[in-house]
Amino acid sequence: MYQDFESELNWAIRHMPRTRAAVDALPGLQGVRLACNMHLDLKMAPLVAGLLDKGAEIFLTTCNPTTVQDDVVAWLERRGAVAYAWRDMSDNDWSESFDRALAWGPTHLCEMGADLTSRLHQSINGPHIKAGLEATGSGISCLEGITPRYPIFNWDDLPVKEGLHNRHMVGLTAWHTFFQTTHLTLHEKCVLVIGYGLVGQGVASAAKAYGGQVIVAETDPARVLQARYDGWEAVDLATAVSRADVIATATGARNVLSSAHLERVKDGVFILNVGHVAEEIDVGFLRGLSHSEPMPFVNAYQLADKTLYLLANGSMFNLTAGYGDSLNAFDVTLAVMAAGIGHITGVGEQQPAGLYLLPSSVWLPAL
Ligand SMILES: NC(=O)c1ccc[n+]([C@@H]2O[C@H](COP(=O)([O-])OP(=O)(O)OC[C@H]3O[C@@H](n4cnc5c(N)ncnc54)[C@H](O)[C@@H]3O)[C@@H](O)[C@H]2O)c1
Repeated sequence: MYQDFESELNWAIRHMPRTRAAVDALPGLQGVRLACNMHLDLKMAPLVAGLLDKGAEIFLTTCNPTTVQDDVVAWLERRGAVAYAWRDMSDNDWSESFDRALAWGPTHLCEMGADLTSRLHQSINGPHIKAGLEATGSGISCLEGITPRYPIFNWDDLPVKEGLHNRHMVGLTAWHTFFQTTHLTLHEKCVLVIGYGLVGQGVASAAKAYGGQVIVAETDPARVLQARYDGWEAVDLATAVSRADVIATATGARNVLSSAHLERVKDGVFILNVGHVAEEIDVGFLRGLSHSEPMPFVNAYQLADKTLYLLANGSMFNLTAGYGDSLNAFDVTLAVMAAGIGHITGVGEQQPAGLYLLPSSVWLPAL
């Protein structure tokens, strides 16, 4: 008989052998105080539990309150982690979580989105961090505007992260979640993908697999060309927005789908975001309109005589309304992350302050 969360967790551990092996290969982590700002879902639990077993002390915050699974956080707290994170926590509480994590006195940071690093660099005070690890494109963009006070290792740009997770899993799981949430496939629908980075590329090709007729809007001329060579119609967002039945943002930038765009969409359009921040869409504008929730994770907004369906309030759709990556695919990601933690708590912390790509000698053995 199905037995609840512990059963799911054991299932995850069973299907993440690379992560287990990478954690087993770490030395003892006694003395390491690791603040982790990340998606707190089931798939993270095997790694965090493994690090605790290795002797690390851990403070958990979330990079996105809409993706927190409270039972996972509670389980990790019982295992010894300190946490200040819960699903849909307010912006004030979320902001406070970063202050609490820094006040806890971490020696190392492991982040998805660089919130702790940004907060730390806004003040001359704060804990002495020996080294950090950053996993996301949005976090790396943010770090490029900072002069780091310690070595930070980027593993978003590794081919094994971008090329697998970003390129293949986000699109697949986003449309799988679309299907589960709306009970619709994309057949006969015009799907507008905004942003043609690796995430957008995967979103476009998976949309086709789910039956969609894909068009792509992108601001970088090189990526516009790439989209055309991949066989998509590259369009101007301002004019094409009124053609789409489904719109997916995948840029990592803010206000990409502005109120002016939203005024021009079709009646019955579905809008979702898979980029790091919900503000890729002007959700503030939509919230000012009258709305209802016809299905879980589907909000229907009335704009004059049109209905717009915003999925998961604009937050990362595949993670908020769905499970995100498959366990086997995320196993690769987490194994690299575990190896990265070994690096930042070992020789990596001896590097001069700066932003580095995680060396291949660190992550290749984890594959
Ligand atoms: N949902 C998930 O599970 C998941 C997983 C990995 C990454 N992400 C997020 O997805 C986002 C995209 O990741 P990526 O690796 O493809 O990034 P990327 O930077 O390689 O690609 C983003 C693309 O968006 C384009 N862009 C920016 N502003 C635009 C605009 N106004 N209109 C059209 N195009 C615009 C850029 O030119 C770029 O080509 C990031 O925020 C990343 O953090 C989400």
